Amino acid sequence: MDAIGLSGVGYTYEDGHRALRGIDLQIKKGEKVALVGPNGAGKSTLLHIMSALYMPTEGELEIMGEKVTRKVAEKARLSVGFLFQDPDDQVFMPRVWDDVAFGPNNLKLSADEVKRRVEEAMEAAGIKGYEDRAPHHLSFGEKKRVAIAGVLAMRPPILLLDEPTANLDPQGRRDLVNVLMPLRDKTMVIATHDLSVAFELTDRVIVLKRTVLYDGDFRGLVERPEILAEARLELPSVPRLMERWMERTGRKGPLPLTIDEALDMLDGDDGRR
Ligand SMILES: Nc1ncnc2c1ncn2[C@@H]1O[C@H](COP(=O)(O)OP(=O)(O)O)[C@@H](O)[C@H]1O
Ligand SMILES: [Mg+2]
Repeated sequence: MDAIGLSGVGYTYEDGHRALRGIDLQIKKGEKVALVGPNGAGKSTLLHIMSALYMPTEGELEIMGEKVTRKVAEKARLSVGFLFQDPDDQVFMPRVWDDVAFGPNNLKLSADEVKRRVEEAMEAAGIKGYEDRAPHHLSFGEKKRVAIAGVLAMRPPILLLDEPTANLDPQGRRDLVNVLMPLRDKTMVIATHDLSVAFELTDRVIVLKRTVLYDGDFRGLVERPEILAEARLELPSVPRLMERWMERTGRKGPLPLTIDEALDMLDGDDGRR
């Protein structure tokens, strides 16, 4: 069973702007997918559809094998955790613990179960010890992790993350990757401009510009400069450097995308270890 299925999906906003058209996508359970594309490509719109917050204006949407109609949208939303781009849209209680507990409390779970979920989610999001802090006094990166904890406390099988590393400093970005990396059993769709984060966290990339321009692995994408250009994407410095080095030395093989892959190639090249 697929986690998310879209067939012929399009979306037109009320003012008549058609933000998406002709989208066919199947996302398998447990899959990690990067959704990349220029500003205005429709990434956020597509995530809102995948979370059943917007109903497609054309085509069909399935979540966890069930066709989503207005009638079942509310139930479908329980399968999906959506991390908004701006944590201020998501974090609103005066105390961190209450904010993370907000969703589970709404599920009418027992107090013990709520406590268990909140503790587990705060631990996973790296904010243990923040229970009594005021979210509006936290840094942007910390607030983001409070928002993630709130999402995780609902235990959704699907996570949708809208530009999760935007506006984070390098350490905040690293912290976020470290939070997301262990969540291997979740289906994840990450909208991002940040290809190096995408390389680390996902193994499938969808390039979007109102419709799907590319859907495949990163190696296939790095060989399609015309698509990178069309989507205004830039390869991270490691593959850019390695591409130049391979040209210069005549070394063949798959282009290293991460620091570890690059080191393997460089080590292998001169036999040092
Ligand atoms: N509420 C809205 N009403 C009309 N047009 C909108 C609305 N929200 C977004 N759009 C338009 O839809 C397009 C896709 O937007 P969005 O999904 O936010 O793109 P992205 O997240 O890739 O930057 C853009 O042209 C944007 O201006
Ligand atoms: Mg967006």
